[in-house]
Amino acid sequence: MTILTAQQLPEDEIDRSLRPRRLEDFIGQEGLKQQLAVSITAARSRNEALDHVLLAGPPGLGKTSLAQIVAAELDVPFIQTAGPALERKADIAALLTALEPHSVFFVDEIHRLPRALEETFYPAMEDHCLPITVGQGAGARVVTIDLPPFTLIGATTRTGLLSTPLRDRFGIQHRLDHYEPAELSRIVRRSARLLGVEIEDAGAIAVAQRSRGTPRVANRLLKRVRDYAEVHGDGTVSAEIARSALDLLEVDHLGLDRLDREILRTICDKFSGGPVGLSTLAAAVGEEQDTIEDVYEPYLLQRALIERTPRGRAATRRAFEHLGLEIPPAPLTLL
Ligand SMILES: Nc1ncnc2c1ncn2[C@@H]1O[C@H](COP(=O)(O)OP(=O)(O)OP(=O)(O)O)[C@@H](O)[C@H]1O
Ligand SMILES: [Mg+2]
Repeated sequence: MTILTAQQLPEDEIDRSLRPRRLEDFIGQEGLKQQLAVSITAARSRNEALDHVLLAGPPGLGKTSLAQIVAAELDVPFIQTAGPALERKADIAALLTALEPHSVFFVDEIHRLPRALEETFYPAMEDHCLPITVGQGAGARVVTIDLPPFTLIGATTRTGLLSTPLRDRFGIQHRLDHYEPAELSRIVRRSARLLGVEIEDAGAIAVAQRSRGTPRVANRLLKRVRDYAEVHGDGTVSAEIARSALDLLEVDHLGLDRLDREILRTICDKFSGGPVGLSTLAAAVGEEQDTIEDVYEPYLLQRALIERTPRGRAATRRAFEHLGLEIPPAPLTLL
């Protein structure tokens, strides 16, 4: 059985309605924003396409939002596709030749682009051209199609899976990190305003603290907390209402949900603190390996609840403490 957790609920329409539209609405990631603003202003004043941009980071931190914002700030069309959707060279050729000059071409999950197709992008990114083979056998010849100048924005949850030649062709590369509670509470207040939810500052902080550093999770929890406030209170989200609602949702004070705790408990209990290999762990908790690596692990690592060792994932002392489990007598892997 797959347990649907807070960050997996299919609520894409919330994402869309709460998405920041301009750089000034995008909260946090200050360094990244400043650098992007400089690049955007420079490209605009030279009337050139912006250099290609690679955005990396865990799900729900704002990669798609930022890509759309870049197009909006440049005032150019935004065309979106995803790595797994591109199967043949002809798919890419059809999309790229149809671009208006200076457009943003957004490839989500670019690490899942078929390897054979990566090479198609090299000349397109570097020289704005696309060599294609026409005809077959002895009569085959290579025709080079000129492309309009464009900006490729690639988003990936895993830079490690991107080949070096592809990665090197992005002139601008940024990593998005988990947000601080203060930034998340600003995001919660902004979303509450857009959704017409009354929220006290302490209520926004309470939601932010349990949102595992992720704006998408913060927005989802806010919606659930709003429901709770309407049923059990007068609709206003106070800190007390937020905490009761999140307790009911089994989101604990560190922002961990059921599956997070299941992962920790499995490492601590079943595997005596680890290390345990990722595939064994995934099988033990009944979840996809990719989901654990992309969605769960980054936050557990960031909170120093687990660590990665050459032999697999190991629980830290903090994980045992968090679960209220007895710490085993000094295994070497414990922090
Ligand atoms: N910095 C931010 N300020 C305000 N809201 C944000 C910010 N970052 C993300 N959000 C909110 O979080 C939602 C998820 O962001 P987004 O879809 O851009 O994430 P993502 O990194 O593309 O995720 P994925 O890897 O799953 O595609 C957005 O709809 C938006 O409402
Ligand atoms: Mg996205």
